[in-house]
Amino acid sequence: MRIALTGSKGQVGSALAPALDSLGALSTFDRHGLDLLDLQSIRTTIAQVRPGIIINAAAYTAVDRAERERDAVFAVNVQAVAELAHAAKSMDALLIHFSTDYVFDGEKPTPYIEADAPNPLSVYGHSKLAGERAIAASGCRHFIFRTSWVYGPLGRNFLHAILAAARSKPELRVVNDQRGAPTSSAAIAGAVAQVLANPDLSTKASGLYHLSAGGETTWHGFATAILRAKGIKTPILAVGSHEYPVAAKRPKNSLLDNTQIGATFGVALPDWRQGMAAVLAAIN
Ligand SMILES: NC(=O)c1ccc[n+]([C@@H]2O[C@H](COP(=O)([O-])OP(=O)(O)OC[C@H]3O[C@@H](n4cnc5c(N)ncnc54)[C@H](OP(=O)(O)O)[C@@H]3O)[C@@H](O)[C@H]2O)c1
Repeated sequence: MRIALTGSKGQVGSALAPALDSLGALSTFDRHGLDLLDLQSIRTTIAQVRPGIIINAAAYTAVDRAERERDAVFAVNVQAVAELAHAAKSMDALLIHFSTDYVFDGEKPTPYIEADAPNPLSVYGHSKLAGERAIAASGCRHFIFRTSWVYGPLGRNFLHAILAAARSKPELRVVNDQRGAPTSSAAIAGAVAQVLANPDLSTKASGLYHLSAGGETTWHGFATAILRAKGIKTPILAVGSHEYPVAAKRPKNSLLDNTQIGATFGVALPDWRQGMAAVLAAIN
């Protein structure tokens, strides 16, 4: 089976490449190998590779910058995704794509299930929802994995930002009124590999699956756990979102209910603390 992976240098993409190695002949594309802003090159590249599986780990993920770059966000997260979906449909390939908890408004008190009505609060959230809908409309075989609060050993993410800030500032201020499950890129990659190795893969229904780490915390709880694990004593003040103004509004509740992916593929990600320990060990 030939597999084409876009966004291979991103957090999830870089974790996917080694995880997929044994599953087929992998062709990886970073931005230089395949710029998703170039729709024609999406067509020609996919036609050349003729993959049985296309995995799109590329996305415009700068949530705050997205508020002032709507066209650029939609070009990558919607138009390019639609093109990949059409390419998948035309060659009967399976499309694996990633989406986000930010498609929800966070007003639900309990974890979100796939059937809950989305209501994005941000340009990024709107674009990811439109990307999901473009895939569904294309009629290609697909699995869209909505995940949350992604971090890993590589890339710009919360874990690295907290470690850097804790080493350079006397005190940190971190919001404690947004709940979620920090999900490591390695855990996501392992889950995708497990899904693709499923012997009954061809019988599984296309659609959305929530895929996040077990347990829950807040950004403040996550930051506290990171510093405690590293033995760093910098105090962390808990603040409300209103005291930490950013361009894009975030949902108060980012928790995803992972029952469906467990029932369909037997996938259950470990508790977020386990993922965090593995990432901290990897960057040591
Ligand atoms: N990060 C999170 O907290 C989070 C949470 C929920 C869901 N997700 C979703 O999970 C997926 C993976 O996210 P991630 O955290 O791995 O993101 P990431 O680290 O930002 O990686 C995204 C990759 O996409 C590439 N990319 C951006 N524009 C491109 C273009 N025009 N052509 C080709 N490549 C392009 C980026 O390349 P450059 O580095 O060159 O820009 C980067 O390597 C995305 O679908 C994202 O929406 C992420």
